[in-house]
Amino acid sequence: MVVISLGGSIVAGESTDVEYIKRFRKFMDDVPDKLFVVVGGGNTARRYIETAKSLGYNEYLLDRIGIESTRLNAMLLITSKTAPKIPKTVDESIMLSKIYKNVVMGGTEPGHTTDGVALLLAERAGEKYVVNMTSVGGIYDKDPKTHSDAKIIREMSYERAKSIITGKRMDAGLNVPIDLLALKIAERSNIKIYVIGKDLENLMRVIKGEDFKGTVIG
Ligand code: UTP
Repeated sequence: MVVISLGGSIVAGESTDVEYIKRFRKFMDDVPDKLFVVVGGGNTARRYIETAKSLGYNEYLLDRIGIESTRLNAMLLITSKTAPKIPKTVDESIMLSKIYKNVVMGGTEPGHTTDGVALLLAERAGEKYVVNMTSVGGIYDKDPKTHSDAKIIREMSYERAKSIITGKRMDAGLNVPIDLLALKIAERSNIKIYVIGKDLENLMRVIKGEDFKGTVIG
């Protein structure tokens, strides 16, 4: 089984890339491996959370709205080979995977992001890696959006990734697109996190254990 954390901005960004979603759905159906795809909230979450914030909603409720957005985005990836419902927990997802080739889901509980869900799912399923697909496509030594000479960091320890997130270490410009819970789960169960972009051939290379473009944490 392969666990993929798909950044919400890939499914629901500023504009919707329907052709990419079609290609991703086909990839899910065609790849021989069973897949768990955990989808993020992207712009859907951002817009709803902003509105709810203006209405004075508290953080718990904002997270609940975020979770519903991730589930809505996940529904765009239901194919004939995918469980027809979006599981609300990791255990439910595991149960559905015994019946269907693929399972797609969004968030579970307030207090973390879908990266955390993907890592818990991998831990529960006994998987040794998670693929994190983001719009940036890896961890760079500088912000690649503003620096054309930004170089990708091929490997990073859990320790370094955690210290960057918690701000203990000032690695200028470094951005680790993973939440802290996800990193802690990864570290305690020794699960590698492959941070890559949206390219599906590159995803296939990760699954086959071949050389890929991106960063591996752990
Ligand atoms: P995302 O997983 O997309 O969060 O969930 P993110 O990482 O902040 O967003 P991107 O995709 O990297 O831009 C969206 C929101 O849903 C809530 C959180 O509020 C999160 O920010 N959420 C999601 C939860 O509270 N629990 C979950 O399990 C998942």
